[in-house]
Amino acid sequence: MAPTACFCLCIGLLLWQSSRQLGAAAAASSSGSGSGGCEFAFDMLHPLDPIRKIRSEAGTVDYFDEANQQLLCAGAFFIPVVIDYRGLVLPRYANGGVLALAQQGTGIVGWTFPGCPEAYQKFRQGDVIALRPGVPHWFYNDGGNNEPLELIMFYDINTNSNQLQPQHKDFTFAGSNSNRSRNIFKGLTTKSISQSLEINQDLATRLQGPSNDTRGTIVRVPNGLRLRLAAQLNLNTTTATQLQDEEHETGQAQPGRQSKTLLPDNRYLNCLMKVIMNLEDPHSRRITRLTGDSFPILNSLGLSVERGTLKPNEIVSPYYTINAQTVVYVTGGSARLQVVDNRGVAVLNDALRQGQLLVIPQYYVVLIEAGQDAGFEYVAFKTNANPLISRIAGPGSVLRGLPVGVIAASYNFSTADAIKIKNSRGNDERAV
Ligand SMILES: *[C@@H]1O[C@H](CO)[C@@H](O)[C@H](O)[C@H]1NC(C)=O
Ligand SMILES: *[C@@H]1O[C@H](CO)[C@@H](O)[C@H](O)[C@H]1NC(C)=O
Ligand SMILES: *[C@@H]1O[C@H](CO)[C@@H](O)[C@H](O)[C@H]1NC(C)=O
Ligand SMILES: *[C@@H]1O[C@H](CO)[C@@H](O)[C@H](O)[C@H]1NC(C)=O
Repeated sequence: MAPTACFCLCIGLLLWQSSRQLGAAAAASSSGSGSGGCEFAFDMLHPLDPIRKIRSEAGTVDYFDEANQQLLCAGAFFIPVVIDYRGLVLPRYANGGVLALAQQGTGIVGWTFPGCPEAYQKFRQGDVIALRPGVPHWFYNDGGNNEPLELIMFYDINTNSNQLQPQHKDFTFAGSNSNRSRNIFKGLTTKSISQSLEINQDLATRLQGPSNDTRGTIVRVPNGLRLRLAAQLNLNTTTATQLQDEEHETGQAQPGRQSKTLLPDNRYLNCLMKVIMNLEDPHSRRITRLTGDSFPILNSLGLSVERGTLKPNEIVSPYYTINAQTVVYVTGGSARLQVVDNRGVAVLNDALRQGQLLVIPQYYVVLIEAGQDAGFEYVAFKTNANPLISRIAGPGSVLRGLPVGVIAASYNFSTADAIKIKNSRGNDERAV
């Protein structure tokens, strides 16, 4: 009995442990990039530059190398998007959770959760928009003065909610993006569309779009979109919970009135879930974070985001992230980063410039030195709603947690030197 039980348990543990990596490995090996699997993906890291800019009618998208092992194995897909004034990113959904940071400009985002009414809301610079996997969404630049809207978009593609290959897939309801994504209606027969939607064939054909549609994924709305923003769904979770409680109470007191509930409870809450939260810093601290604690939808996405600024020459002493992969995008300035793996090998010792992207693997030790001219500005996306950072030195760090005797014995230090090391300064909270 006992050996069998142990065997099953062990196999179970093994399967459980490797499911995330297996998915990523499948993606990496099917990507055609050759070296196969994620086993060696983080043995050498490289800052990534965008390799392709695709222009649509009213905006551009920058693509990084999708087959890149580091991104695939971290389960991440990343694109900076620029939307011209009165540009509309056509409605689409993705096979993973999405975080979009408005780096510049203002706009409107709309989304539809199954069973929910029309929902859209205005957002401004510094807002983060969180969308669940499979939720159709669109963006529109309503800003004045021809100001472009810049979105930094992160897609999580390696989670339980994506049981397809861990590779980014966009399902679009209109338009096309060369061979990446095309209007899903194109794949259905015109006759069946017309019958199932009860519309005439001409309309069904137009729903499928012209075969020579060259507008891409971002189209111009010549006279602007007219949206009634007063009617926007603009409630936060606190309000939503209160509303739901009220419905429950009403229901108990007067059973007949329960039918007034708009939607089944869970769906109702989903409809009212807050999807926009600002990441600007009200206290001009130089690091701001959105985690599951401050922005509950992130708990269901298993993602978080951080934005930071380091002063010229500022140093972030060594640390590692316990429970998340990190994808850093440089929005300004530069820095030198050193990243060390378990073999004690520097898998990266390189400068990171504006516009570059870097994957920092979970557990790998990082040291950052901001550039001497413009400092270092970054956005970091993490694959955990509540990432945990472990610092090597400074308050609350590994070294502070080790007894002097252990330090002295580990490094053959005198007690005095061991105390010096134990109390060495590390900086407080700055970490990518
Ligand atoms: C799209 O086609 C190009 C060649 O035309 C190819 O390199 C690329 O991998 C294709 N992309 C996808 C997502 O199929
Ligand atoms: C697509 O083709 C139709 C008819 O051939 C033409 O009238 C239309 O202007 C074309 N559209 C674009 C965007 O090229
Ligand atoms: C939620 O909305 C209510 C009503 O608009 C407001 O009083 C409350 O402060 C908001 N809570 C949060 C966490 O934003
Ligand atoms: C440890 O340090 C002492 C004094 O500095 C030195 O004599 C000794 O050789 C060192 N031991 C090793 C193993 O290096």
